[in-house]
Amino acid sequence: MSPVVYNDTLEAVNHILSVLDVLRQFKSLDTVLDRILLEARRLTCADAGTIFMVEGGRLVFAHVHNDTLFSDEDVIKHGYLKASLPIDDTSISGYAANHGVVVSVDDAYAIAPSFPYQFNTRFDERTGYRTRSILALPIKSSTGSVIALMQIINSQSPDGQHVPFSAEDQTLLNLLAGHAASFIENAIVTRELVLRMNKMAELRDPSETGMHVQRVGAFAAEIYHRYAKLRGVADDEMKRRKDLLQIAAMLHDVGKVGVSDLILKKPGKLTFEEFETMKLHTLFGARLFAHPVSELDAMAYEVALYHHAKFDGSGYPGLVQNVMEDSLVGLVPLAGHDIPLSARIVSLADVYDALASRRVYKPAFPEDMTLAIIRDGTGKHFDPDVVSAFFDIHDIILAIRDKFGNIASNQLLNT
Ligand code: C2E
Ligand code: SIN
Ligand code: SIN
Ligand code: FE
Ligand code: FE
Repeated sequence: MSPVVYNDTLEAVNHILSVLDVLRQFKSLDTVLDRILLEARRLTCADAGTIFMVEGGRLVFAHVHNDTLFSDEDVIKHGYLKASLPIDDTSISGYAANHGVVVSVDDAYAIAPSFPYQFNTRFDERTGYRTRSILALPIKSSTGSVIALMQIINSQSPDGQHVPFSAEDQTLLNLLAGHAASFIENAIVTRELVLRMNKMAELRDPSETGMHVQRVGAFAAEIYHRYAKLRGVADDEMKRRKDLLQIAAMLHDVGKVGVSDLILKKPGKLTFEEFETMKLHTLFGARLFAHPVSELDAMAYEVALYHHAKFDGSGYPGLVQNVMEDSLVGLVPLAGHDIPLSARIVSLADVYDALASRRVYKPAFPEDMTLAIIRDGTGKHFDPDVVSAFFDIHDIILAIRDKFGNIASNQLLNT
């Protein structure tokens, strides 16, 4: 992280304005939260920090940064941490969220015993990290309710000395948080719309639907991240495409809205005719995005249309000229890098999830069997480079499954 060096408040405010312009282009909640935390830390030269979402009356970990301890991969994995804190007065963040106030602590280990909250030393004990200054800052919606909470840690002076968060830090962060809230709200609206579009398609039983698409979205985003990094894609471009792909991937099967429930929920194997009908979900999905008004629409179109294309050309629907036609007869096969990268990635993410999960027509397969099927499909069903990126990040894939798994109870972090 390179801190922002500013000479006066005007420069800092100008920087915040430029940050808001960057935030404006992101659509997924994950990207927005990660970026807000990064920019808050840059503004105050803070070594570490956590951003939480308020969900179900708790503070749910969204992202955790720590420049001293964490590699890039650690940061990504912590983005899929399944843990939350109660919103009550016992923790610093809980207190700040509970009362909607900023809490500033100069030394985490010197909080007077008379205070309701105390610092939880568990992270420091486990890692050897030494937390000093802490600033906990609620992010409020336009109606004034706390929707997220940012806790940033260990502010440093330009020469690397530990310093408390200053009054000016608080003012600047309040300004950032006040404006960033609307981007969080927009991202929530987008996510809800995407989940509702899937619900409309009645894909699976209602308890499963949201989780499946969130897993596929996260798998695809992280596979792309790894793929793009290995190819030297510039960081800004990578983050932008990753953000779009996460949402586009969640929409890959919305075309199932056009397929009968009798086929979708059939407990057994589909007949030849039924499967021919099922194949049309690629066209139906693409039709929703056939008049793109945004880059997201363009990517959602590619993904919906080609997520069942196979690398060796044996998938469906083939090269489509007109998504308004209801037939796949006579289409030229589409193979290799003629298949858009987004679709090659979602194809792997979707099949991995289908294999690893229970479906009305199949049980969940164990991980070794799932991975064996993917290895066997390399170069035939899947792009070998995409498979390779997938195996590189297998532990992140498992963290995503844990976060968006079907086990209802969260692992609770009590302070
Ligand atoms: P889906 O359940 O999301 O599965 C996505 C893809 O995962 C499948 O695309 C296939 O490539 C892969 N896959 C799923 N199960 C298996 C498996 O047991 N073994 C292997 N090797 N691959 C598997 P596909 O075949 O084009 O199917 C598209 C969609 O059609 C499926 O989406 C599902 O909704 C439906 N479908 C496919 N086969 C059946 C079936 O036998 N019965 C029912 N009711 N639906 C089916
Ligand atoms: C969204 O809600 O942004 C996804 C739908 C679309 O852009 O077409
Ligand atoms: C892309 O980023 O879509 C181009 C890379 C490829 O198609 O292999
Ligand atoms: Fe599909
Ligand atoms: Fe699918």
